[in-house]
Amino acid sequence: METVLLTGGMGYIGSHTAVELLREGYDVIIADDLSNSSAEVLDSIEKITGIRPLFYQVNAADKEQMQPIFRDRAVSAVIHFAGYKAVGESVAKPLMYYRNNIDSALTVLELMAEHEVQRFIFSSSATVYGEHNVPPMTEDLPTGGITNPYGWTKYMIEQILRDAAKADQELSVVLLRYFNPIGADESGLIGEKPNGIPNNLMPYVAQVAAGIRDHLNVFGNDYPTPDGTGIRDYIHVTDLARGHVAALRYSRTHTGAETFNLGTGRGVSVLELIHAFEKANGIKIPYEIAPRRAGDIAEMYAAPDKAEKILHWRAEKTIEDCCRDTWRFQKKIADELRILRSH
Ligand code: UD1
Repeated sequence: METVLLTGGMGYIGSHTAVELLREGYDVIIADDLSNSSAEVLDSIEKITGIRPLFYQVNAADKEQMQPIFRDRAVSAVIHFAGYKAVGESVAKPLMYYRNNIDSALTVLELMAEHEVQRFIFSSSATVYGEHNVPPMTEDLPTGGITNPYGWTKYMIEQILRDAAKADQELSVVLLRYFNPIGADESGLIGEKPNGIPNNLMPYVAQVAAGIRDHLNVFGNDYPTPDGTGIRDYIHVTDLARGHVAALRYSRTHTGAETFNLGTGRGVSVLELIHAFEKANGIKIPYEIAPRRAGDIAEMYAAPDKAEKILHWRAEKTIEDCCRDTWRFQKKIADELRILRSH
């Protein structure tokens, strides 16, 4: 059995990937400092899969804390999710973002070299395509022209990984560029739980549906798109998680660095997403048109062909599935809050 180490494995994408790996029979170890997640996620993973992964509460950038995992466990591959991810915060605190995100990638790579672990899967982002490329985005487009430090950390780590793979012929690196992950596991037990006011569209919509916020602000309706609102490629987090399983399988038999988009190839506007949520769940989402958000682009969606051809993976869930599953999880966390308040 293969043992896979997930740094940041308690987070939104990491926890869903842990579930899919366990469902496929992999042995999973999670390393997470719980800086943006909670220990209960482990209970939920166990409830869903019947298996409790080994958990280390450590900071992935801290070599001494990470060392025992590599020393004591036969790790065959690492999926590196650990990292800060709030775009706005990265503009305000760039050094914190560069220090944390780049350090954790370097620490894990050094430990892998010392312990002869040769497979590294990286959580990159479609944000590396920047503002100059025209969708659909293919993996061979030039990257750069990014509008925030968070995105630049992804860009820089991609380059570090390509250089590492060039220098070490035995290393297998897979760069996964995520488009916009939404939705939750069908069980409703794990999902996205933003701290404070959500920055991203779907968590905000879910909080409006739950009555936590009274309306959604639609950032701009004067983009050159059919309804004037921004277009993105929303991908169900379970599909995304399965993309990691496919990448892991691929990395067994390939060396060097290879890049794949994980997206659906379908562009959906902000208004279309609101209406899909309303239809799937029978809830009205009040919204107002607001000014454009700084750094946003009109359109971003994937060319998903390379992943389909080489990884034999493609996104299967619909936008309705995404809306239904998001709401199921949002209701669960709203119920928990209500119970807490009533005690
Ligand atoms: C954002 C980040 C991206 C990151 C991704 C993670 C920016 C510029 N980009 O992508 O780097 O990888 O999150 O998921 O922040 N919208 C509204 N109202 C809202 C929130 C969003 O109208 O309250 C609109 C946005 O203008 C955009 C779309 O919804 O058109 C999606 O926004 P969001 O969910 O924040 O994702 P991105 O901006 O695509």
